[in-house]
Amino acid sequence: MTVEPGWIPPETDITKANIARVYDYWLGGDHNFQADREAAHTILALDPNFRTAVRANRAFLGRAVRFLANQAGIRQFLDIGSGIPTENNVHEVAQGIVPASRVVYVDNDDVAVAHSRLMLNANPDATVIQADLREPGKILADPGTQLLLDFSKPIALLLVAVLHFVPDDDRAADILATLRGALSPGSYLVICHNCRDGQPDLSTSFENVYNSRVTAQLRFRTRDEIARLCDGFTILDPGLVWLPQWRPDSPDDVPADPEKY
Ligand SMILES: C[S@@+](CC[C@H](N)C(=O)[O-])C[C@H]1O[C@@H](n2cnc3c(N)ncnc32)[C@H](O)[C@@H]1O
Repeated sequence: MTVEPGWIPPETDITKANIARVYDYWLGGDHNFQADREAAHTILALDPNFRTAVRANRAFLGRAVRFLANQAGIRQFLDIGSGIPTENNVHEVAQGIVPASRVVYVDNDDVAVAHSRLMLNANPDATVIQADLREPGKILADPGTQLLLDFSKPIALLLVAVLHFVPDDDRAADILATLRGALSPGSYLVICHNCRDGQPDLSTSFENVYNSRVTAQLRFRTRDEIARLCDGFTILDPGLVWLPQWRPDSPDDVPADPEKY
């Protein structure tokens, strides 16, 4: 009999590449399998810079959470599409600033949820639920969400590198309307989304390879399409920008070609 580590649920199909594990591999994590690594390398062959872009996404997430905790006074976080975090997770950053910060992670991937469960074992102010972004009502009603988050107070809703897996615009807009409707005034939305404007040809090739190799539908949106997803929210300075341009820790951190990140 083989005993699988706690992060590999028995129902996991390790023969097909999946979003969370491919992303984990790009980030240097070890919660991935051969199929994930092969898909990750096929995409890296298209865009050798992509690992840097993935790291830039994690750095953006960290800056956003620090801004929310320090400047915006946010103490509750709902992180949907949270992934297989390796380091600088939302609860680590937020609770490092205000220890009682509460965090609900949501992912629809078995491995991501199992890994997060192990990581949060001894943390009473953070939890993970297995749910699908495409069913936002279920996320809001989940006992785990309800137990930890007080929707009468401001919450930061994090949709970082996940909305591009909901290709249909109407569906994405409906999801955002449902989530927005549950938030009280003073709440925040953080979005990071693949954008095709900077490198349109590469974006199309990326979509084609990704969608043939990974069990997910990925769609790059244009800047205008992403802006429309933010309807109903006031966009903070510096607006909708390339990842490294959003409130960099130092101006030196912004590369000359920010659209590649
Ligand atoms: C690219 S990773 C991003 C992880 C993390 N948010 C970050 O930015 O570092 C996308 C994550 O979203 C999850 N995901 C994709 N579609 C989802 C859906 N419909 N519902 C919930 N999670 C989803 C994947 O399983 C994966 O863990």
